Amino acid sequence: MQEYFVAKKTDFGEGDRRIVRAGGSEVGVFHHGGAYYAYANTCVHSGGPACEGIMIPRVLDVIAEDRSYQGQVFSDEMHFVCPWHGYEYDLKTGECAGDRRLKLRKYQVVDRDDSIFVIA
Ligand code: FES
Repeated sequence: MQEYFVAKKTDFGEGDRRIVRAGGSEVGVFHHGGAYYAYANTCVHSGGPACEGIMIPRVLDVIAEDRSYQGQVFSDEMHFVCPWHGYEYDLKTGECAGDRRLKLRKYQVVDRDDSIFVIA
């Protein structure tokens, strides 16, 4: 295992992401909500660049007690969406929102001094 430089913290603001090479793989590193998350940039569906897709909060259907549909709202759970066919991943866990048994490989992030690294 080895550390790979991602970015200086001053160049990696809240909401940013970086795609880096680490240990022969591409890794997507996200800065969200004051924390850093890193996943393999390889979608579990067909190998697309999952970490490069749009970020959007999870959309929830609102169903009333009488079972009538009341519309949709955004939740606090941030997702990113694979640009190839739309598989959606939970930013905090790397789980596929459509089937939580499917997960992107997670990498450890190191926040040291003024820089961010991933271990691969
Ligand atoms: S390769 Fe990512 S959704 Fe198909």
